[in-house]
Amino acid sequence: MPDAIEARQLDVGYGGGRKTAVKVLAGLDLTVAAGSFLSILGPSGCGKSTLLRVVADLLDPLGGSISVLGETPHTVRSRRDVGFVFQDSTLLPWRTVRDNVRLPLGVGQGSLTRKIEDRSTELLELMGLGGLSERLPHQLSGGQRQRVAIARALLGEPKLLLMDEPFGALDEITRDRLNDELLALWRRSGTTILFVTHSIAEAAYLGERVIVLAANPGRVVKDLDMRPFKQEGNRCKREDPAIVAAMADLRVALERAS
Ligand SMILES: Nc1ncnc2c1ncn2[C@@H]1O[C@H](COP(=O)(O)OP(=O)(O)OP(=O)(O)O)[C@@H](O)[C@H]1O
Ligand SMILES: [Mg+2]
Repeated sequence: MPDAIEARQLDVGYGGGRKTAVKVLAGLDLTVAAGSFLSILGPSGCGKSTLLRVVADLLDPLGGSISVLGETPHTVRSRRDVGFVFQDSTLLPWRTVRDNVRLPLGVGQGSLTRKIEDRSTELLELMGLGGLSERLPHQLSGGQRQRVAIARALLGEPKLLLMDEPFGALDEITRDRLNDELLALWRRSGTTILFVTHSIAEAAYLGERVIVLAANPGRVVKDLDMRPFKQEGNRCKREDPAIVAAMADLRVALERAS
């Protein structure tokens, strides 16, 4: 099986061509194994969202190479093998919660199978939105809207799931619960997950591996394999001394990167 991501000497920037653009990521090398769970930490503005944008084919690199699931980002996107939940995920304001969740699978085309119906109901329940499925987005809180976006990304069962601070707007109890739901889904599905977060604890708890990016230009400055600190299936306790020690290690890297 090809790696989920293979980036070599990747340069990415905004505002112009190869010569004039300001580089956000420079010479980034990153390999992510298929089926793995990667957490990404880094100071604000270092290029985490930019990296996900390149993987999702929303931005072309300036140089270097990137393959996603062994193909170009464009091919993977056109096959709908990649799902994303972005920092500011948008819902269609005139569609209900239920219809927003089913959006990528062609709502309104009369083609929804029973299986998709059941699965979207199940995901709404899982996200704690069971009673809200007929509401419109403006009738929801920010965190509820974000959960609709997560349910929508999960419904397509993508081979690669990109999540950019998906739980940032949630209270800590809900966030912890959704962390566990996400891990359970990941174990069941074999999906590769790239998960950006500002929380060191969340990165360490979720990731089989955690990388820290530094800014100016964005590059990987720490790459920590979490598997030695965890049980089978990436299981751990948040307060486990090994996890707490790994968090301290990540904090040092993050402080140096900031
Ligand atoms: N469309 C754009 N045009 C020009 N510059 C941009 C654009 N989007 C992002 N940038 C710049 O690129 C850099 C990286 O932005 P990016 O959004 O990837 O950061 P980030 O690591 O996700 O930060 P945060 O943690 O705050 O979300 C920042 O300096 C930002 O100002
Ligand atoms: Mg960002």
